[in-house]
Amino acid sequence: MQRRLLPDDTHARTYHHLRAAGVSVVVVVSPERLPHLLHWGADLGDVDEEALAALDLAAVPPLAHNTYEVSRDATLVPAFHAGWLGRPGVLGSRQGRDWSPRFVEVAHLRDDDEGRQRLLSTAVDPVAGLRLRIEMELDASGLLRARSALTNTGPDAYELTALRLALPVPAQADELLDFTGRHTLERVPQRQPFSFGLHAREVRQGRPGLDSPYLMIAGRPGFASRSGEVWGVHLGWSGNQDLYAERIPNGARVLGAGELLQPGEIVLGPDETYQSPWVYASYGDGLDALAGRFHAWLRARPRHPRSPRPVIVNTWEATYFDHDLGRLTALADAAAAVGAERFVLDDGWFGSRRDDTSGLGDWQVSAQAWPDGLAPIVDHVRGLGLQFGIWVEPEMINLDSDLARAHPEWVFATGGRVGSPARFQHGLDLTHPGAWQLILAALDDLLSRYDIGYVKWDHNRALVEAGHSTDGRPVIHAQTVATYALLDELRRRHPAVEFESCASGGGRIDLGILERTDRVWASDCNDALERVEIQRWTGLLLPPELIGAHIGPTPAHTTGRRHGMQLRGGTAVFGHLGIESDLTALSAAELADVAAWVAFYREHRDLLHTGTVVNVDLPDSAVAAHGVVAADRSRAIYSATMVRRSVTWPPGALTLPGLDPSTTYAVRPMPPGDGADAGSLPLWAATGGVELTGRQLATVGVQLPPLLPEHLFLVRADAVR
Ligand code: DGJ
Repeated sequence: MQRRLLPDDTHARTYHHLRAAGVSVVVVVSPERLPHLLHWGADLGDVDEEALAALDLAAVPPLAHNTYEVSRDATLVPAFHAGWLGRPGVLGSRQGRDWSPRFVEVAHLRDDDEGRQRLLSTAVDPVAGLRLRIEMELDASGLLRARSALTNTGPDAYELTALRLALPVPAQADELLDFTGRHTLERVPQRQPFSFGLHAREVRQGRPGLDSPYLMIAGRPGFASRSGEVWGVHLGWSGNQDLYAERIPNGARVLGAGELLQPGEIVLGPDETYQSPWVYASYGDGLDALAGRFHAWLRARPRHPRSPRPVIVNTWEATYFDHDLGRLTALADAAAAVGAERFVLDDGWFGSRRDDTSGLGDWQVSAQAWPDGLAPIVDHVRGLGLQFGIWVEPEMINLDSDLARAHPEWVFATGGRVGSPARFQHGLDLTHPGAWQLILAALDDLLSRYDIGYVKWDHNRALVEAGHSTDGRPVIHAQTVATYALLDELRRRHPAVEFESCASGGGRIDLGILERTDRVWASDCNDALERVEIQRWTGLLLPPELIGAHIGPTPAHTTGRRHGMQLRGGTAVFGHLGIESDLTALSAAELADVAAWVAFYREHRDLLHTGTVVNVDLPDSAVAAHGVVAADRSRAIYSATMVRRSVTWPPGALTLPGLDPSTTYAVRPMPPGDGADAGSLPLWAATGGVELTGRQLATVGVQLPPLLPEHLFLVRADAVR
């Protein structure tokens, strides 16, 4: 029997080599099949077409008995006909027909522009009546992103269940990392072997969630911040998600992502198209390198916030629902005195919202709480030279609200019932044009009437049983589109206003919402010890300037832990700094401490918000250390926190990665995080610092002081020659 050795389109294959910043993506294309990635990972050098063909040839596996006798190449949108045995990229049917499409007549268009290499592929399945379009682009940062669109070219309805993209990773990527969490404990990492089968994280909450998978990462076992190859995908979408890793016995491993669609949610009529969200894919040698590509990509966006990130005072943990003008003006005075630059009035200013049981949906200033409107507080804050910000939660509704009484049909409902309340609230169905227009008008009026520079946009419940109230159909996809449109329109009308994405803390952090927001609230947990981890892992996707980090009260409201100002200040300055504590209740000494950290942040935010984030792999996990190195490597700031007690005592050396190996740096403790409360300092620190090269600092480092648990130490490194 003659056995086919090569995929049947070998003769027609050509190659695209996308290369940027140490990443190579080799795409195999042919007129007969969808593109597939022959390689996504480390740079392969300057390889010509012939060498790429040889690479392709070398990658064809031998035919073994009883294996599926077609190519094992997983196309970017995997398909059964191309030999893929795992999850299909297109899942859907025309009442049971056309469920296994074969796309042919594939046209590929290379369309590079400055800093971006693009490949666009279009294909049709004339039998199934489908057209597919795949876009792929490699950014100058080495970040790859891809999305696809499916059009129904048939005469009748096509029900789409899933449209997913899957990227291959090599067999060396044998360990998985993704995330889970809960309210006040977001982004808890979980690792496991990349075993056979499917590891899928399905998000059905209408937002990525407090337990968001965030990224699906595969890497060489034991990968760490600074070592071990890693490949990761993220879905830039704020609704339901499906993020997965799949391994099948023919050797293939993929990382995949797509929107999770509910039954009947997407039914394409003739000529209708479903567009998938972007799937972002980052490769790196170590997690810092993977994160660095996301950071570089985000920082290159035209709308990335580049002005100095203002120090915020947020009223929530200071006053909660107590909107008393005297109390709030006193808080604003104290905010100005410690050097804050933005004052954010949180929940409770509108409608009947005196607690969390009522008022959501009624975005008019409460005459009860604010008899003279918001002008007295806005004018007072502006008079102090601070920007004024305000809290809203536009996608939600309390049944006890004027809006719900006037429009009960705008509350999500399915099966003839509204679902269960959560935090006494329900989802407001923005797919009703009237609801969307009404909320737009109310928020537009608010932003036009008052001098508001910042909106904290909250989303405080999982949207389960989110049905369109007239017919009960699932509506999260359309709701997400409507929310994006609402934000886009408000931004168009008020281009100077900045927006924050908050969802009970970090429940909606993704690159979809970040196309239209300028900051995320990482967590409702202001306990600095918890924040060390939450911010570290939130930083896997986002650079520090996008991550809200506040100096909270002590004891912390969410954990009851007590921390000194050193840990609270020294942790919060590594994000977009804020204060969320009743400053009017602090002693003069405590206020001076807060002011010192605000001054530190204001002095160094140019570095902290443009530099390269590094995380230090230390042998003892009792010490969590990280830093930011200036883009030109002329200076850096590092932090080491004793997150618990350790048997190793004193704690040993802090290595300082990321510096220029051959430059000499002066390394000094950095007030106010200079270890003054550590009892004693190591000799190098007690004698005013030490000069070492970047190579010596990365490999040998400097000794840490005997830090008390839940205390930190900051050092700076400045190039001297
Ligand atoms: C949840 C947010 O995360 C908090 O910061 C605060 O804004 C409350 N909602 C207000 O209800």
